[in-house]
Amino acid sequence: MSYITIEEETIRVPDHPVIPFIAGDGIGPEIWSATKQVLDAAVHKAYAGQKQIQWQEVLAGEKAFNKTGEWLPKATLETIQKAKVALKGPLTTPIGGGIRSLNVALRQDLDLFACVRPVRYFTGVPSPLKEPEKTDMVIFRENTEDVYAGIEFEKDTPEVQKLIQLLQTDFGVKKIRFPESSALGIKPISKEGSQRLIAAAIDYALANGRKTLTLVHKGNIMKFTEGGFKKWGYELAESRYKEQTFTMNQYATLAKESQEAAKTAYDQALAAGKLIINDVIADNMLQQILLYPEKYDVIATCNLNGDYISDALAAQVGGIGIAPGGNINYQTGHAIFEATHGTAPDIAGLGKANPCSMLLSGSMLLAYLGWQEASDLVEQAIEKALLNKKVTADFAHSMENATEVTTAEFGQILVALLQE
Ligand code: NAI
Repeated sequence: MSYITIEEETIRVPDHPVIPFIAGDGIGPEIWSATKQVLDAAVHKAYAGQKQIQWQEVLAGEKAFNKTGEWLPKATLETIQKAKVALKGPLTTPIGGGIRSLNVALRQDLDLFACVRPVRYFTGVPSPLKEPEKTDMVIFRENTEDVYAGIEFEKDTPEVQKLIQLLQTDFGVKKIRFPESSALGIKPISKEGSQRLIAAAIDYALANGRKTLTLVHKGNIMKFTEGGFKKWGYELAESRYKEQTFTMNQYATLAKESQEAAKTAYDQALAAGKLIINDVIADNMLQQILLYPEKYDVIATCNLNGDYISDALAAQVGGIGIAPGGNINYQTGHAIFEATHGTAPDIAGLGKANPCSMLLSGSMLLAYLGWQEASDLVEQAIEKALLNKKVTADFAHSMENATEVTTAEFGQILVALLQE
């Protein structure tokens, strides 16, 4: 068995790496089966059989519960720990019993701090926009902090009463409008957590020739948390990445002295091919991505903003059936790539599921391994299949003159395209 290793933050991938997979619940097995065939065909074609993934099934979700009595067996986590990189289908969220969402558990246990969502348009996919092809962004959403830390206190509990009293007496807080009937939540945002996420986004932008990186925040209202995110982002760019980037914070500082000097520095940075780093307030960003998507490239943002922006952008280019994602710790190398939709119980077992989200997540996985050629082949095959309008039910309904095919048939069409 050959495993991926990380040496000095660089990933080392053997020719036959073991990659664990979780097929997932509901439509999971159908989309996984199509995905495996297509990824294997792409790798085979790209490297003439010299490289091949050794897929290893690990259990999670309903399948794990039925077989082992546990929703997330320890062995699954240990295997992913060891193999570093995994691919996963959607999992049923267990209801009640205090069990955390399995996705959240996986992300927290492996400290997968960056949720990476590339959003691009594939010609022919139904979209609500007039010019959906202008949308081509990669979102880096912080995955471990913010209101998602789960520090919340329910109304009327002794904890919330104690905390409100502490805030009022020790901190002089007078602005809790209804202290008798409030619940409270805490929003931790750290310099360390923000900078590791923003560094990953800058590294990605530089490695992939992207032109701009936008820090999205609500620092006008939350000055120390989201405002901190912006401030620490600019500080990082202006120190660790000062040769490769130019920030709009530098522009603003120069402009205080002279508009002309700021403009010249900006033009010089553009001419030198530097990455331009700017920032946009989160609510404005939701307008910007609709009105001027072509102006945005890589986005780095806090957890909650990232949640909203990811779904809004996914809808702009065709919705959840086609939006891929990866949860990555760029320091340890651990990464789980996953379909971003749920288990779709309403269509499970009917051959109607669109496997593109999982397939494109697989394509991201291949790129993460450094197998860019194979990754590109997967995307090209999907592009061609969509142009030929042989698509699964979700797209067939809203594409003119489309032929509906099953999940398995769609996979076979892609494999045939890869074998041409
Ligand atoms: P869902 O994403 O499963 O379904 C929402 C709608 O989108 C349904 O109409 C479904 O048929 C459709 N849909 C989803 N994926 C599709 C695909 N690949 N092709 C065609 N149509 C697709 O969301 P829902 O119903 O809220 O959740 C169902 C279960 O999935 C729940 O247990 C939920 O907790 C879990 N879930 C798991 C996620 C994960 O594992 N990453 C993410 C979201 C939900």
